[in-house]
Amino acid sequence: MSHILSAVAWPYANGPRHIGHVAGFGVPSDVFSRYMRMAGHDVLMVSGTDEHGTPILVKADEEGISPSELADKNNRFIVEDLVALGLSYDLFTRTTTGNHYDVVRRMFWQVRENGYMIEEETRSAISPSTGRTLPDRYIEGTCPLCGADGARGDQCDSCGKQLDPTDLINPVSKITGETPNFVETTHYFLDLPALAEALSKWLDEREASGTWRPNVIKFSQNLLGDIKPRAMTRDIDWGIPVPGWEDQPNKRLYVWFDAVVGYLSASIEWARRTGDPNRWREWWNNPEALSYYFMGKDNIVFHSQIWPAELLGYDGRGSKGGQPKELGTLNLPTEVVSSEFLTMEGKKFATSRGIVIYVRDMLERYQADALRYFISAAGPETQDSDFTWSEFVRRTNDELVAGWGNLVNRTASMIAKRFAEIPEPLAEAEDIDIQLLEAINEGFDTVGDHIASHHQKAALGEAMRLVGMANKYVNDTQPFKLKAEDELPRLSRILFTLAQAVTDLNLMLSPFLPFSANEVDKIFGGSGTIAPMPRIEEVEDLGPLGDVLGEDGQVSSVSVVDAPSHRYPIITGDYTNAPTWKRHNIVPGTPVSRPKPVFTKLDPSVVDEELQRYANIH
Ligand code: MF3
Ligand code: ZN
Repeated sequence: MSHILSAVAWPYANGPRHIGHVAGFGVPSDVFSRYMRMAGHDVLMVSGTDEHGTPILVKADEEGISPSELADKNNRFIVEDLVALGLSYDLFTRTTTGNHYDVVRRMFWQVRENGYMIEEETRSAISPSTGRTLPDRYIEGTCPLCGADGARGDQCDSCGKQLDPTDLINPVSKITGETPNFVETTHYFLDLPALAEALSKWLDEREASGTWRPNVIKFSQNLLGDIKPRAMTRDIDWGIPVPGWEDQPNKRLYVWFDAVVGYLSASIEWARRTGDPNRWREWWNNPEALSYYFMGKDNIVFHSQIWPAELLGYDGRGSKGGQPKELGTLNLPTEVVSSEFLTMEGKKFATSRGIVIYVRDMLERYQADALRYFISAAGPETQDSDFTWSEFVRRTNDELVAGWGNLVNRTASMIAKRFAEIPEPLAEAEDIDIQLLEAINEGFDTVGDHIASHHQKAALGEAMRLVGMANKYVNDTQPFKLKAEDELPRLSRILFTLAQAVTDLNLMLSPFLPFSANEVDKIFGGSGTIAPMPRIEEVEDLGPLGDVLGEDGQVSSVSVVDAPSHRYPIITGDYTNAPTWKRHNIVPGTPVSRPKPVFTKLDPSVVDEELQRYANIH
């Protein structure tokens, strides 16, 4: 039994999330966490909405509301979507809480105390009308290298070269069209060069473990080649106040400095809410604990460089030494599990151009498990993949409905009709019966190992192969033809075998298809709770930590500031009752009723309808 942290990327609260987002961080982290709990591990799955930074400000301005109103609105919307998808967070919170503000500021303060935050003068682009920093990607101009128009301050998409905003010819703000002012300003920089050796050592160890996806480890190691101090503060008036600079309300912590600390602060918030405020330490201070970070590939640098650097800086493990404070020595990530990108009908998702399928729209029209199935079977696990409506309809109809759904349906129908309960097997088992159940029993190992090593496509593929085998068993044994009195013993054995097979496969598929797993469980006389579900709870902000960690004399001297949030919805749940990952012997005599189909078959007209719907938006 291990302590396992499932650290799930925090969705931006600048709008509703689309299916590309949940394909990246959402479904994979939930499948993994559900499986790990069933395999007997102590899983803590945390995340929340990421509510600071320029995108939130830009959007709030567009809508004519305050950033905190925008964040409140989208936080609630996203929470509802993630629950509707069945994502089993132990805590899904937000970055505007008193708890998060305090943990982030403590973290910053100790990294600074240890010498890894340096103050430096720098030139930065400011929007003349708002006085806020213009992030590099919000500045556009002509590329000085290839002459292309529309190059961004961070890079030119035409020639692919990295740029600095000061390089651009005729730079303008993408938000307002104004020419930015380049001004001298002071910021705190994370001293990445002083942490580079420790980072490199950690990455080498991680590479040696052989478990990371090859492109993720390679990309992360390459980042070390060109390592520079990186600004962790911004000229902006929305974000966490910078410790020591509380008198400068126009300077705030960089959104990425704050968001990644969320994994830690959410673990602490979770522990505080359980009434055992130090319990988070089992996942963070215990060197045996494992931590898995789930995200899309645009987030890799923040998880394999910035966040580990913050942790090493806090721990005092860089070239300048130092020591941790009351949070103790914090664990580095075990694995950065990054997926690639999902496209839609061959195009990149682009919310502004209507190339988007929102989670909400999808779940209003289709079953959550159908979306979860598509993402798990055809998502961007190790390479970019494409969502098309025709493929969605095909997979739903051919694989879910005609494969798994059909097996459940015919097994339950035959049992209901002939016995009304799981029959006592009257005849001896034959080879064909034994072989099926042996193959399925082995599936617990193969499917489980694939999920544990983040090969979810292979895991689902193997489970579905076993479903196919069970369907073939029905065709081979033809139980529907066994109608005579003297055929009853054989019939009872076949239906008993099938009931066991369906029960096993249902358990194996439950991390992928939790909603239907509960339906299938009910059909076979269970309580319908084998896949525990998350719930929304309205809570009060807990406020800053105060002395809840009880480490006298070791406590951070950083001051406490107010945070925006007060009452908010969290996602939480009790997942302790998930059954163990192994065969549970079925009990003859358990009632089985005539089933209703678990999966909804989609009419092929769905494809045109959906394509039309998106065409109309343009
Ligand atoms: N909000 C970021 C995004 O959507 C992800 C933040 S992940 C965290 O790309 F590490 F910062 F939490
Ligand atoms: Zn160029």
